[in-house]
Amino acid sequence: MTALPCRRGCFVTGTDTGVGKTAVSAALLHWCGLQGWRSAGLKPVAAGMEPLGGRWVNTDVLALQRASSLPLSEDDVGPCQLRAACAPHIAARLEGRSIALPPLLAAAQALARRADALVVEGVGGFVVPLDAQHDTADLAQALGLPVVLVVGMRLGCLNHALLTAQGIEARGLRLAGWVANTVDPAMPWLQDNVATLRAWLGGRYGAAELGCVPRLDDAQPQRILPHLHHDALQRVFDA
Ligand SMILES: Nc1ncnc2c1ncn2[C@@H]1O[C@H](COP(=O)(O)OP(=O)(O)O)[C@@H](O)[C@H]1O
Ligand SMILES: [Mg+2]
Repeated sequence: MTALPCRRGCFVTGTDTGVGKTAVSAALLHWCGLQGWRSAGLKPVAAGMEPLGGRWVNTDVLALQRASSLPLSEDDVGPCQLRAACAPHIAARLEGRSIALPPLLAAAQALARRADALVVEGVGGFVVPLDAQHDTADLAQALGLPVVLVVGMRLGCLNHALLTAQGIEARGLRLAGWVANTVDPAMPWLQDNVATLRAWLGGRYGAAELGCVPRLDDAQPQRILPHLHHDALQRVFDA
């Protein structure tokens, strides 16, 4: 794909589903807005909708829409929203649909034309099938944005984080930064694990630590932002 027509952006992936990608993406969008940039969130594929006020919504799409400083429609943010909360290619099949990359890339292009900064939230982990041939890493590769990895801090996360970093590098993408998000506050040796990520992701991949987010009673962007490092964020978005 040709380069996106906005200078700043990132692709937010995670060590798994439910590790805080949406929460961190919303915080990044909020931070971009505070810099005076027109920020736009994109959830290219969203699986799982629920009824709200007589219609069906995806809560990731709503969160990114709310956190964007540009006024965006739900269709702008979520060009492919699927009802079932399961693997996207299965959710699509249940609706007699299939997921193709070109419309997703066109949606990214359209948002990038209107925005100064684009934050794209991936689906699940880094490599999730979209159809029989393509996965979400192909999508990330086509977008060509620097990648931000949200590490859900729990036992097993070091392996997941390092495998993901390897996958990102294998696709020719740059792991610009990572966020340690406290999924399990009772994780033994939490800070030692964060230090290990710092050493390995920094040493091997040159990835910056963007912050360590504790378990919060409310994971709204305004509550997450104080735990992220302004200078490191600037380097991600100014690259
Ligand atoms: N640091 C945190 N403290 C408290 N709750 C969090 C934190 N990070 C995420 N959550 C909550 O955990 C759930 C999963 O996070 P989410 O951002 O939706 O993950 P993902 O996008 O990776 O699936 C959400 O309900 C979210 O509000
Ligand atoms: Mg999400």
